[in-house]
Order: sequence, then structure tokens, then C-alpha cells
Amino acid sequence: MKTNKRQFILTSILTIHLVITTNFVSATGTVEVYKSPTCGCCGKWVDHLRDHGFTVNTHDVGNKEARARAGISPTLGSCHTALVDGYAIEGHVPAQDIIRLLKERPKAVGISVPDMPHGTPGMEGERNDPYDVLLIQEKGDTRDKASVFNRYRP
Ligand code: CU
Ligand code: CU
Repeated sequence: MKTNKRQFILTSILTIHLVITTNFVSATGTVEVYKSPTCGCCGKWVDHLRDHGFTVNTHDVGNKEARARAGISPTLGSCHTALVDGYAIEGHVPAQDIIRLLKERPKAVGISVPDMPHGTPGMEGERNDPYDVLLIQEKGDTRDKASVFNRYRP
């Protein structure tokens, strides 16, 4: 009886440990970022991701080709394109939305904050404009087809 109890506790601890480890890995997979070497706001966005526990690998080769390969329409484009866990991330998307995307894992190409709205992570300054994080369902979908994944209304 005593052994069974000990066995149960041990199994529980191992299970809990496994669950925590799995969640941690899925929330902090390596992010491959494609950007121009001279892009200052891109570098600040990379810092924002690292601050939120992501491991980031940067490729200073611009993002036009990476964006096209990922199937993101130029109408949803921004200054950098990132790939993580099978999803594409375009522009100044807040880390919390990427974490949510990797947790919910919807059937989608990825998420985008088109253009470079003032007040997004990496674009901090005097102005805070409202913006949407858009969910891209199919490769090549234009901006009008994307749905709203999250809204920011400062
Ligand atoms: Cu930017
Ligand atoms: Cu950028």
C-alpha cells in the first residue's frame, strides 16, 4: 500500500514535469527572422521576442523572398518575416499573440500586423495607434480575406 502511494506520487511528479517541459518548448520554439541588416525596428522586435522567452535566429537578407515563400501576400506585408513551428509571423506582432497562436494551433499560414503601426512592439514612441493582428488562413490570401486574431485599441 505504501509502495503504491509512493509510486503514484513519483508518476505524478514525472507527468507534471513532462507537461511543463512540453508547454515550455512549444511556447519558446526557435524563431527564424528574415530582415534587412539595417532595420532598427526589426532589431527591437527581436529583443521583444527574446524578452518573452523566445530563442531567435536572425537572417539579415531582407524579407521579401521569405515572405513570398511563406505565402504571405504583399498586401499583408511589413518590414520582417519570421517562421516558428510551422507558422509565419509578419511584422510587429506582439509576443503574446505568437504564444497564443502556438498554443491554439489553428489551421492557418500565420499571423500579421501589416505595415508598421506606431506603438507596436519595436515601434514604441510618442504615438500609439490602434491596430489588428490578422490571421492568414490560406497561402496567398490578401488583406481583405484575413480575419482578426487580436485587436489593440490604446
Ligand atoms: Cu518595422
Ligand atoms: Cu521589422
